Amino acid sequence: MNKNRKWWKEAVVYQIYPRSFKDSNNDGIGDLNGITEKLDYLKNLGIDVIWLSPIYQSPNDDNGYDISNYYSIMEEFGTMDDFNNLLEKIHKKNMKLIMDLVINHTSDEHPWFKESSKSKNNKYSDYYIWRDPVDGEPPNNWESRFSGSAWTYCESRGQYYLHLFSKKQPDLNWKNEKVKTDIFKMVDWWLNKGIDGFRMDVINFIAKEQGLPDSKRPDSPEKWSSLPKSHKILNELKNEVISKYDVMTVGETPFVTPEDGHKYVNENRNELDMIFHFEHVNLDNYDGKNFLKFKDIQSKWYKVQEQGGWLSQYFANHDQPRPISKFFNDEEYREESAQLIAMMLLTLPGTPYIYQGEEIGMINVGFNSIEEYNDIRTINKYYDMLNKNLAEEDFFDKLKEKSRDNARTPMQWSDQTHAGFTNGEPWLKVNSNYKIINVKRSINNPNSVCNFYKELIYFRKNNKDLIYSDYKDLLKKDKEVYYFKRSSNKNVYYIILNFTGNLIDLRKKKIKLDLNKLELCNYNNYDCKKLQPYEARLYISKT
Ligand code: NOJ
Repeated sequence: MNKNRKWWKEAVVYQIYPRSFKDSNNDGIGDLNGITEKLDYLKNLGIDVIWLSPIYQSPNDDNGYDISNYYSIMEEFGTMDDFNNLLEKIHKKNMKLIMDLVINHTSDEHPWFKESSKSKNNKYSDYYIWRDPVDGEPPNNWESRFSGSAWTYCESRGQYYLHLFSKKQPDLNWKNEKVKTDIFKMVDWWLNKGIDGFRMDVINFIAKEQGLPDSKRPDSPEKWSSLPKSHKILNELKNEVISKYDVMTVGETPFVTPEDGHKYVNENRNELDMIFHFEHVNLDNYDGKNFLKFKDIQSKWYKVQEQGGWLSQYFANHDQPRPISKFFNDEEYREESAQLIAMMLLTLPGTPYIYQGEEIGMINVGFNSIEEYNDIRTINKYYDMLNKNLAEEDFFDKLKEKSRDNARTPMQWSDQTHAGFTNGEPWLKVNSNYKIINVKRSINNPNSVCNFYKELIYFRKNNKDLIYSDYKDLLKKDKEVYYFKRSSNKNVYYIILNFTGNLIDLRKKKIKLDLNKLELCNYNNYDCKKLQPYEARLYISKT
């Protein structure tokens, strides 16, 4: 186990999707002053670090993940003064702020791209990935992550440009030293302003294979994901810029394997502090076989930490459907499921990331008509389906479950109009369950999801040895119960979780727990011999 102490290993991170968090000026869109208003709430919850999804100037083709100016704030979100004020208040409360860093691509409305697309010989012509047509077609078979070809033709250059995401998100050409210099300068500018680090968007996609050959399948990532060059660039970024500051970095790295993940986070390689892998959230559910896989994934990734790296733990973010709906029970056992997730997040190895609304047990929205959706990926997939003449109902149900908008509906603060998010018309409809699921209600109930989060967070803060302790799965082959221990030289923590909606007889599983001290449980009426649906317990025993 990696035991070097660092503030970001001990921190609890909270992700804010600014558009949906809190609207302060009633234009229906969340903003920076709205976040400032809610800092006391976050502090009280025990949050140490706030991660903001992109707040830079953007035409919002992909809600801010398409940046047209890295040095200014999106108008709907406020001004640079509002940002400075927010940062100052966060620091005053002894919290930290990390920003999203989107440097695989920019917006097509970024001045670099506007210039680049004009001709083959201007200052920015080589800032993006341009190729001649091959027999009038795109240069290779790569597919965009948002449907269709990853190439779009540009009349003025008579060439195609690459975009792994929407056609309004052209990929930067990291082979060009000038791109590197400009981006490194921008990273330095923000760090110098006093922010505390970055979450790096699809950072393992920045290098593409030499010659841009066809992929095995149009949607397979082997030619542009986690290539050796991406490690080299990150190492340079760390050595030349990031290491000057006491900050944290977490890389979003889809498709990454533990072997490659280890390279990104191994402390001796100087690349990133942590990454987000996707193996556990890409499972369809956590029943039976998949549950065994889930446990296996945790053990497999733990090795990365044992070998000198550090992990992140998350179940939710702005791209994932709400985990209670996807993996657990969002009806009868919504609160118990939410608390079980909290227990895992805060006791499994690595730094925990809570996504807004997770701490009150928010669930999927499942809009019923395409007009209600906003997410570009959902909308593109819908029209793809129409073009392919697939049966709309079958497809729509799937889309509904998977849509990123499930995570993006406005934060539910109270039972007031629009859940207290805005007094205007929200940019995305509020989930109709807001009268039941909201912060105000959750805070006032001692047994709520929110208060369970709080207890766990404070427990973690008061027992720092848990953070640096070893991990062992004690029941690898069991399809219902997750039972693991974390051991330090002071304590052994036993965590036991019922992943089903059934009563579990612990004697049948040969589990005896009465020797240890029960610290936390999401039921008041617990029974030594049985686990209730989605029950989650934490025991402690001195070593
Ligand atoms: C990953 C981000 O989390 C997602 O929201 C975005 O659409 C893509 N990267 C492209 O930036």
